[in-house]
Amino acid sequence: MQRVNAPKGTKDILPADSYKWQHVEEIARGIFSDYGYAEIRTPHFEHSEVFMKGIGEGTDVVGKEMYTFGDKKNRSMTLRPEGTAGVCRALIESGALSGPLPVKACYMGSFFRYEQPQDGRQREFHQIGAEMFGTKSALSDAEMIIMLTRLFAALGIKQTALEVSSIGCATCRPVFKETLIKFLSEHEDNLCHDCKARMHQNPLRVLDCKNEGCGVIVKDAPSPLSCLCDECAEHFDALKAHLDATGTTYTINGHLVRGLDYYTRTVFELKHAGAGAAKTLAGGGRYDGLVKTLGGADVPGIGFALGVERLMLTLAAEGVAEDITPPRPLLYIAGADERGNGASLALATKLRDSGLFVLCTAGDKAVKAQLKQAQRENCVYCTVIGETEIESGNLTLRNMQTKEEHAMNINEIAQFLQQREQLDG
Ligand code: HAM
Repeated sequence: MQRVNAPKGTKDILPADSYKWQHVEEIARGIFSDYGYAEIRTPHFEHSEVFMKGIGEGTDVVGKEMYTFGDKKNRSMTLRPEGTAGVCRALIESGALSGPLPVKACYMGSFFRYEQPQDGRQREFHQIGAEMFGTKSALSDAEMIIMLTRLFAALGIKQTALEVSSIGCATCRPVFKETLIKFLSEHEDNLCHDCKARMHQNPLRVLDCKNEGCGVIVKDAPSPLSCLCDECAEHFDALKAHLDATGTTYTINGHLVRGLDYYTRTVFELKHAGAGAAKTLAGGGRYDGLVKTLGGADVPGIGFALGVERLMLTLAAEGVAEDITPPRPLLYIAGADERGNGASLALATKLRDSGLFVLCTAGDKAVKAQLKQAQRENCVYCTVIGETEIESGNLTLRNMQTKEEHAMNINEIAQFLQQREQLDG
């Protein structure tokens, strides 16, 4: 049969690389647990209306990028393009948002958007995200942003740029929209084809247009910050004060808008020059109306998600990726003959039962080839077991780097390796 390759815009995470992903996930789990977040796992597909209502029909994500299909009973289903709407749906459905608040949930997994693949942009990509429900105060906005910055710090990433802004609420956003439309109308002739349409459907998106001509116009466009109502202005001032008080470095980007319609008030993005063509590593904000839009109570929310593929590019760009090393086998047990092969598996099983990482022969290679494999696998020690060793009960463990040899009884090996493991931490 002709070879079939992975679909465009998807990437396999192969055994040789998966330890890097596990490292990142482990650090994220540690941070989330320190901040009181418990994992939520929602389906990879939802009824399409969850995203259409939740994210907004005027967005690129809903309008152009969703993988939507009819199931066998012709119900419209969509592969999740992001996590927040599905998390809200699940927490409303389970009744979790009708109980004590706040509710804090975190997630990691695959998401799907039909985009033009490029460096750091895929059709199936991975996000690590967190959502907090039930708090309105700017203190939670600050805590969420701080958690995100601590996550990057724990990963050893230093050169991130945090941008924050406020896009107002249902009271002041219409005022801003009007002001913006008025400004854009004066420049309509010079806007790109898409922005001419966006200007009336979703004018805030014009602020985010990547077209060079639109960029020039937008530079002088009004900012939502200039139209905030008193409550939103107070909220944004409080957020800045909390960020300042905690020594969090940020810049205010008055033209920061997000690609999803559910945001209210606080929006933020974390950028890094090494994060691929788009440069945005993570994004988030407050979404006080989303739970209600999806049929729940009037429960506010705030959260973020980071793109793991972009994070991997960033780790490489900062030279941190090299410090992440795969777990190292402590011992390779080579078999010298038929009886030795069997003894190799038996000893490996015993050592593994005591929680040690050891490799043993598969019984199909000569000793020399087995020791080469031990070298390739970066094993700390190797040993060869055959008739003589089985009869005497004694083995010699050789340090593969220093060549130092340690003779010992077969029953002493577990303890010897455990001590070595403790030394290595
Ligand atoms: P988003 O900005 O659409 O926000 O995505 C968050 C991150 O996911 C981006 O900053 C980027 O790193 C990554 N990402 C997005 N699309 C792709 C893609 N096609 N390929 C690779 N990486 C991608 C959200 O999804 C919101 N749900 C975040 C949020 C959570 N807001 C509040 N809570």
